[in-house]
Amino acid sequence: MAFLCRNVGLVLKSSRAAPALLSAARLYSSGGQYEYILVEKRGVQNNVGFIQLNRPKALNALCDGLMREVGKALDAFEDDPHIGAVVITGSERAFAAGADIKEMQNRTFQECYGGNFLAHWNRVSTVRKPVIAAVNGFALGGGCELAMMCDIIYAGENAQFGQPEILLGTIPGAGGTQRLTRAVGKSLAMEMVLTGDRINAQEAKQSGLVSKVYPVDQLVSQAVQCGEKIAINSKLVSAMAKEAVNAAFELTLAEGNRLEKRLFHATFATDDRKEGMTAFVEKRKANFKDQ
Ligand code: HXC
Repeated sequence: MAFLCRNVGLVLKSSRAAPALLSAARLYSSGGQYEYILVEKRGVQNNVGFIQLNRPKALNALCDGLMREVGKALDAFEDDPHIGAVVITGSERAFAAGADIKEMQNRTFQECYGGNFLAHWNRVSTVRKPVIAAVNGFALGGGCELAMMCDIIYAGENAQFGQPEILLGTIPGAGGTQRLTRAVGKSLAMEMVLTGDRINAQEAKQSGLVSKVYPVDQLVSQAVQCGEKIAINSKLVSAMAKEAVNAAFELTLAEGNRLEKRLFHATFATDDRKEGMTAFVEKRKANFKDQ
């Protein structure tokens, strides 16, 4: 099964995979069979987990089943010691056009509050391995929020980010008001949340929402390359680095600096810190063992 999975992953790197191969990928991919997403391992060393949202008829609207599958795929990649980073992407037309409006249309407050509606979406932001969002096309509402739960956002030149919930008589509910404000500042976040207006890829780059913009057809491979760069570093130390950066959103400066210092000290308990510095002194490439 592992052999088949690796080979299906390799074949699928070509952009026009045959339908039969796509269904094989679903069947033999990490974590089981999926209806709404495609899951593969990518990169020369197959060390980048790859999740493609695949609900084209609804522009990847994030129905409950899709988000449960994303959570399941993330669990599988989190448990796979060979995977060092994960890329989440959609199609060239849409990363995701938001939570599924048709699914939400008739929900009551009692169902939402009682069932803690959408609580499981949070799984994306609790993954310890680095996660990169590769956003082409629409990233609206929950789609924008999903991208912002990731650690790095790369955008294709056609990307559009927005929080249009206000136009539906509701507000963002998966971190949009919080993460967008932290990313782009109060004025632009307020404008987007209160008007529902979208920003394009260049505006997203200027405002700090995304770190890089690429031509549409290069976006995914660039995101995977970024994942590969991350994955060859020590996975143990990457987790510490991610924890430290994320603490900047939660703690005061003094608390954050204290946590950073403790994690920095903790790297000295790892073989990988020793290997990294020794490799530098010996003028060779480090060979990290995640120990
Ligand atoms: C369900 C959706 C959908 C969505 C699109 N579709 N977005 N279905 N939920 N969020 C479906 C359409 O109903 C349609 O299916 C098909 O996808 C194609 O969409 P069109 O509207 O025909 O395409 P287009 O004219 O190109 O317009 C694209 C669009 C528009 C601008 C993205 O679809 C749109 O405005 N979508 C809604 C965006 C939005 O409001 N997102 C926020 C959702 S609320 P049919 O079968 O009808 O042809 C949200 C709350 C988050 O995310 C709170 C916490 C998670």
